[in-house]
Amino acid sequence: MTGGSSGLGLETVRALASSGARVHVPALDPVAARAALSGINKVDVWPLDLADEASVKAFANAFLDRQGRLDILVLNAGIMAQPLFRDPRGREGHFSTNFLGHYQLTALLWPALVAARTSRVAILGIDGVGVVEEIGNAVDSIAVGNEVWYIDGGYPGNPGSYAEYKVVHGAYVSRKPRNVDFVQAAALPVVGLTAWEAVFDKGKVKPGDHVLVHGGAGGLGHIAIQYLSAIGARTATTVSSEAKAALTLELGADLAIHYRTQDVGAALKSWSGKDGADVVFDFVGRDNFARSFGHVVPYGRLVNTVVSDWPSGGNGFAEWRNLDISFVNIGLPQIARDHPRRLRQVRVLEEIAGRVDQGTLRAHIDRVVSFEEVGEAQRALEAGETLGRVVLKI
Ligand SMILES: NC(=O)c1ccc[n+]([C@@H]2O[C@H](COP(=O)([O-])OP(=O)(O)OC[C@H]3O[C@@H](n4cnc5c(N)ncnc54)[C@H](OP(=O)(O)O)[C@@H]3O)[C@@H](O)[C@H]2O)c1
Repeated sequence: MTGGSSGLGLETVRALASSGARVHVPALDPVAARAALSGINKVDVWPLDLADEASVKAFANAFLDRQGRLDILVLNAGIMAQPLFRDPRGREGHFSTNFLGHYQLTALLWPALVAARTSRVAILGIDGVGVVEEIGNAVDSIAVGNEVWYIDGGYPGNPGSYAEYKVVHGAYVSRKPRNVDFVQAAALPVVGLTAWEAVFDKGKVKPGDHVLVHGGAGGLGHIAIQYLSAIGARTATTVSSEAKAALTLELGADLAIHYRTQDVGAALKSWSGKDGADVVFDFVGRDNFARSFGHVVPYGRLVNTVVSDWPSGGNGFAEWRNLDISFVNIGLPQIARDHPRRLRQVRVLEEIAGRVDQGTLRAHIDRVVSFEEVGEAQRALEAGETLGRVVLKI
């Protein structure tokens, strides 16, 4: 942990140590650092001045030589232009298997720390669409009066879009689709982007693949089905009602499996003619994640978007079948302040806008609610009563 002997860095060291980690803090003034960190167990201070990227890499190498393992490298000293690469020596397999990666500016802990120090209030709403009212001096990509959309905020420290006004970095807004109204556009950014990363980046779906979309009539599912149809994949979905089945078939699915009354695995196998689907999207999570292992053919791919438990018996079944399991979390670039990845998400939103304007992608709007109706809308969403998307109009 660089920059760990004062301010937020020190708070982060305290949080990491209290969660059971052993934390190593390089410091220019080790005496002062030891004094500052004196109340915290499991902290080692290294008398080092890490003033540039080369010295951080050298330190990481020396650390690995001595300790043999480095799980998280937290860069809080403001000296790295780019994140360090995975293995500072460019070798695979050097880290222990629970290697998590590095996080600039304490990526995972940052929101919690900000919330603790500033406000416990979060304004929800990760995405939004609207008209630009004002721009900063350095913004030249958009102008006052432009109709734009974005993904930004929604957690303590960065207020979201359940509000009349929203301040967004100029680089993170782009033109909304021109040929649809604000309600249709507002339904798309989060699900359009998440389904995109799932289908194209992680799922790597090819024409002719057999694909299963769990939660096919939900926000993510009904968009993923349209991407899959455009690729030329054959798509099955799981649904709980005739209305949900009808929506998925209308959007391009070939088969709707009623998961409450049918045996999903058996229906899938008889449809695909093989031991499952080539690619499975688990947009439901929890129990459904482990259950989905059995829905993927050997060597196939499973993509999940919901925090879930591993099966209680371990990962043996998935390992035995050589499954390729991956995850999508579109929020990390924001939380980690990963500017290049955020720009990439903006480019994807532009692609999505293009598809909407060409008429090859649309959101199904379940209902449009006023601010006063947000509570009821959230309840309906959690109860699985909605088809497609719910839009909040302010
Ligand atoms: N990681 C990310 O970046 C990211 C981004 C967006 C969303 N998400 C998460 O991804 C999940 C899906 O998002 P969403 O917007 O699509 O939510 P949603 O609109 O609520 O859709 C979820 C769908 O799952 C269905 N479902 C529930 N239990 C099921 C089961 N056992 N088998 C099959 N389908 C089942 C629900 O309908 P029925 O119960 O009636 O079938 C519902 O249609 C949510 O947990 C959301 O928080 C993650």
